[in-house]
Amino acid sequence: MLFKQSFHEKFNLAATLICHAPGRVNIIGDHTDYNDGFVLPAAINFGTDIAASRREDDYVKVIALDCNQEFVEFSIEDIQFDERYSWSNYVRGVLQVLKQAFPQIRGANLLVSGNVPQGAGLSSSASFEVAVLKTFSELYQLPLDGIKAALMGQSAENNFVGCNCGIMDQLISAMGKQGNAMLLDCRSLTFEDAPIPEGIGLFIVNSNVKRGLVDSEYNLRREQCEQVAAYFKKSALRDVSLSELEAAESMLDPVLFRRARHVVTENLRTEAALACFKNADMAGLGQLMRESHESLKSDFEVTTKELDGLADMLNEVLGDSGGARMTGGGFGGCVVALSPINQLHVLQKTIDELYSKIFGLSADTYVCSIEQGAFRVI
Ligand code: GLA
Repeated sequence: MLFKQSFHEKFNLAATLICHAPGRVNIIGDHTDYNDGFVLPAAINFGTDIAASRREDDYVKVIALDCNQEFVEFSIEDIQFDERYSWSNYVRGVLQVLKQAFPQIRGANLLVSGNVPQGAGLSSSASFEVAVLKTFSELYQLPLDGIKAALMGQSAENNFVGCNCGIMDQLISAMGKQGNAMLLDCRSLTFEDAPIPEGIGLFIVNSNVKRGLVDSEYNLRREQCEQVAAYFKKSALRDVSLSELEAAESMLDPVLFRRARHVVTENLRTEAALACFKNADMAGLGQLMRESHESLKSDFEVTTKELDGLADMLNEVLGDSGGARMTGGGFGGCVVALSPINQLHVLQKTIDELYSKIFGLSADTYVCSIEQGAFRVI
């Protein structure tokens, strides 16, 4: 209600709708999406809200409540990259893609507000993109489903914003199901819901390490994976088995070998995790999460000492009752844990007592619920 009121104050007319798209946490399966592999993320109770009304002209007018109420306007007939208000490139990029697919769309007034911690690896940008897509699909009654919307968000990010990300973040923001994680096949874009076992909670710790070199290191990892796939004459590492890879070890550069080993083993772990969800096997799931972290640390080399320290602290408390690992792209950001709800306070206490003492930084912690994606119907 307050949000609608702010819209009225800013634009001097009534908002016709409010749309929401969630951020995400990835429970297992990192750096596998752009290798046509498997991921297992969940949509969380942090996201982006947009209040909107249609315009009769071709202008899009946007106010970003959380960025000092900055205001941008542009015509959808001539969409340019914005160096000054970089947040607006998510709107611009999405509308460029959307306009190509649906030339009938016209302008809109948008008021945007989000609470996904930025730069924490919880997909604030994907949630923004999907929220814009949902808003326009409602404003203009577009025949747009969640998979198409996710592909459009990814295309905007790859081709307009300039980040070479995979499909995971946009797809879970669009198609996640409340109370469930999702095993997603990033090649076929088919998915299966993975129910969170009874009595299990989701705990996220932001290491608050300022992420450095994220884009360049991310793109480098992606190239390294593509090189190994090309060596095997396969379109993606998804098609290389562990035995094939191991048999070729002496022929491959050791760094490339380790990069590929992470991806190949992470795919196996991620598929195995689905069975653990279905059987409420927390010991099995915890083990897979710990192995995933170790592989991201030693083979893929995208963790930091803070992420390693946080995962160790949490895993030590959890034992067989759950598991913790870094989540997302790495080089800073968050650790995710699945834990019995009645243990969450012990995890919290552990972080409070140890993290700043050891690393000289304070961590932010969130107990998250798992929410519905913006385009998910049932
Ligand atoms: C970032 C990207 C995703 C994915 C993860 C790593 O979040 O946006 O597409 O590659 O890193 O799993």
